[in-house]
Amino acid sequence: MKLLECGVKDFRIIRDQRFKFTDGVNLIKGNNAQGKTTVLEAIYVFARGRSFRTRSEAEIIAFDKDGAEIDIVYEDKERINKMSASYRRDENRKLTKNGVEIKKTSEFLGNFRAVLFTPDHLSLIKSAATDRRLFLDIALSQIEPKYIGYLKKYSLLLSQRNALLKERNADAPESLILFETLAEQMAPAAAAITALRCRYCEMLTENISQYFKNMTDGAEATDTVYESCISSDVNVLKDVDEAARLYERKFIDNLSREINLKSSLYGIQKDDIDIKLNGYSSRKYCSQGQQRSLAIALKLAEGDISMRSTGEYPVYLLDDISGELDKKRNAFFMSQLKERQIIITSCNINGGKKFDNVITMKNGGAVK
Ligand SMILES: Nc1ncnc2c1ncn2[C@@H]1O[C@H](COP(=O)(O)OP(=O)(O)O)[C@@H](O)[C@H]1O
Ligand SMILES: [Mg+2]
Repeated sequence: MKLLECGVKDFRIIRDQRFKFTDGVNLIKGNNAQGKTTVLEAIYVFARGRSFRTRSEAEIIAFDKDGAEIDIVYEDKERINKMSASYRRDENRKLTKNGVEIKKTSEFLGNFRAVLFTPDHLSLIKSAATDRRLFLDIALSQIEPKYIGYLKKYSLLLSQRNALLKERNADAPESLILFETLAEQMAPAAAAITALRCRYCEMLTENISQYFKNMTDGAEATDTVYESCISSDVNVLKDVDEAARLYERKFIDNLSREINLKSSLYGIQKDDIDIKLNGYSSRKYCSQGQQRSLAIALKLAEGDISMRSTGEYPVYLLDDISGELDKKRNAFFMSQLKERQIIITSCNINGGKKFDNVITMKNGGAVK
């Protein structure tokens, strides 16, 4: 997959600019606060469906404007495509692909695929479980068309369940019938999500081990484990019928406790992944250096798995990563990214022979 162009208008600090990209390594350089990350933010909207920096669409519209427009032109193995997003202060965002409006997120995601790597991701291994679930959700939503549908369905039912748990008559017989219906509907979605996440973790294990071994001179073995509330047996977690049965029971069996606490205690919104290093939990025990090596391995693996599922590498968007990594890890990471298109931002690298294309940002615009 190759990004050819990105157009950005009234999006944060960028007034009106078209950026052109080439194969290989594209560097976006410039001082702080000139709009480098904003370019990556605009591009990644097309991979993730929204900004990676904010949930508020109003925030990305330039301070003195009422709307913003972004677009990308990219090439996949079939053809050249154009996608666009337009934002207005008083309306919902509008998305198009090749001139046709796309209303469903499930149809939007998976078209343009990208891996984003920001300094925040360097602590992914030990940060909150939410961050690791988000990693899985974003990766899977780009390669598994059904995933986002299951996730949406489950989240909707879960919010209904949480609302019901907070009601004063939550333990009344008519509420109990509702809880049973919700459990019946939530269980298959939870099971489908669990199976897909579990399979993803198995693929991660293979890929991460390879990379991690190379970074640590073969010193450590890794295993990516999906932690679910219904079972620790991978075969059970991958069996959607069995998993659905266990989820349904879980959603009913603990109801009185959940009513007391007024919140849902079990389900895929609580799951986590842990990468074991020689059998030890990296979440608990890994050093900062190991944490960084694992984060790099995870980001490389994300691209490999996407390649395996779609036949193409995603575009790599690296936001000021090299400034955070030591020389050895940085060199390893960059050496493994061959064959992939990279767009990298930095305020302390000067454009040189290492780069196939250099864009210099100043005050929200590209300068020569
Ligand atoms: N909605 C907005 N309208 C105008 N400027 C904005 C908006 N949001 C952020 N900015 C400005 O964009 C700049 C940051 O851009 P950013 O892409 O993060 O820079 P860099 O990555 O080059 O350090 C800041 O000066 C900030 O004030
Ligand atoms: Mg930046």
